Amino acid sequence: MKNKSLLIFILLLSASLSSLYAQGFVVNYDESKVPEYTLPDPLIFNNGTKVRNKKQWEKRRSEILKIFENEVYGVAPEWDGEIISSELSSDINALNGGAVRKEIKITLKREDKEQDMIMLLYLPKSSGPVPLFLGYNFGGNHTVTSEPGIAVTNSWVRNNKEANILDNKAKESERGRDASSWQVKEIISRGYGLATIYYGDVDPDFDDGFKNGVHGLYGSDPDNTSWGSIAAWAWGLSRAMDYLEKIPAVDSKKVVVMGHSRLGKTALWAGATDKRFAAVISNNSGCGGAALSKRVFGETVGSINRSFPHWFCENFNKYNEREDLLPVDQHQLLALIAPRPVYVASAEEDQWADPKGEFLSCVAASPVYKLLTGKGFPAIQMPAVNSPVVSKIGYHIRTGVHDVTLYDWQQYLNFANLHLR
Ligand code: GCU
Repeated sequence: MKNKSLLIFILLLSASLSSLYAQGFVVNYDESKVPEYTLPDPLIFNNGTKVRNKKQWEKRRSEILKIFENEVYGVAPEWDGEIISSELSSDINALNGGAVRKEIKITLKREDKEQDMIMLLYLPKSSGPVPLFLGYNFGGNHTVTSEPGIAVTNSWVRNNKEANILDNKAKESERGRDASSWQVKEIISRGYGLATIYYGDVDPDFDDGFKNGVHGLYGSDPDNTSWGSIAAWAWGLSRAMDYLEKIPAVDSKKVVVMGHSRLGKTALWAGATDKRFAAVISNNSGCGGAALSKRVFGETVGSINRSFPHWFCENFNKYNEREDLLPVDQHQLLALIAPRPVYVASAEEDQWADPKGEFLSCVAASPVYKLLTGKGFPAIQMPAVNSPVVSKIGYHIRTGVHDVTLYDWQQYLNFANLHLR
């Protein structure tokens, strides 16, 4: 009798556990539980025929781009407004005399509406136009270095108990908080510039039905394919590029778009949608970034959509707990960047972002790079930690947690030197 009730208890427990699994409430970190999956072939057209040459790839590329727009990130509008810029500050002896620093207000004006974003620009003291990294920061420009001349953002910021931000307002005390993630001295000493913008200037990171930030410049009622925040942030990077193209100090043919985590997803989508970015770097971008969704390992489509309903388009919800139905996977996002260089970086303790899924995306994007450049990605097995694999696709998994470190930046600078210099 006792055994029978124990058996019933175990059966009930396993039934409810598998239902929790199915609903995405239990996170899978077990490689043996990764389901069997087939990745869509980036080199097969929707009608089943094969892409045979570079010219045909452009057609296939548009097909893939459309699917990502309609099913994943949403469709961003064409920019038909005006960009007005004004210098807010300038210091020609920044970083103890090692660099020039500027803050530039970039106003996006469309009809009677305006949205401001403030770019923090660090440039090496060099005569010619310089290559540059462009990326969003999470906390406001004042968190990027501890230099006192940088204004504390007035935009809405996420609350952060550690930084004692409880009212969505940035604070002076956070100055330089994220300096280790930016490594500005290292970037400048290698001859690169850095342009960074607080991402909340472009779209505040909360769910308001796709209305605030740059969404407000257009203001139509959202539908299933309306642009989510990742698409809005990526679109903002293209507007930053519109500005960078106009300033002689920057070599706009050598702008590397870079981002971490949700902003790494954003950098990839920006690189996919805007060919003016010469190279793309995604740091620990995970689900909806470089990691394959169909592996259902770590963060899943269902869990990201439930936690962040404003990041993707409505249609992406169709794939909650149904990753098998996705008509694309994230290796095709990397393929959209080809033949331009793309770097994917993982961290060993960041299993939520599925390092192996990020690596396998590089492997599965390789045939497109091979077709376009004659050379694919030179690995099929995960490399050891701190041992980058580099071709036009770069990959590393470093020791440590979800973060951007000096080690990461050193690899990105080496990668940029290899391909852009
Ligand atoms: C959460 C989210 C991730 C995201 C990360 C970040 O962990 O689940 O998808 O990458 O936040 O942006 O910091």
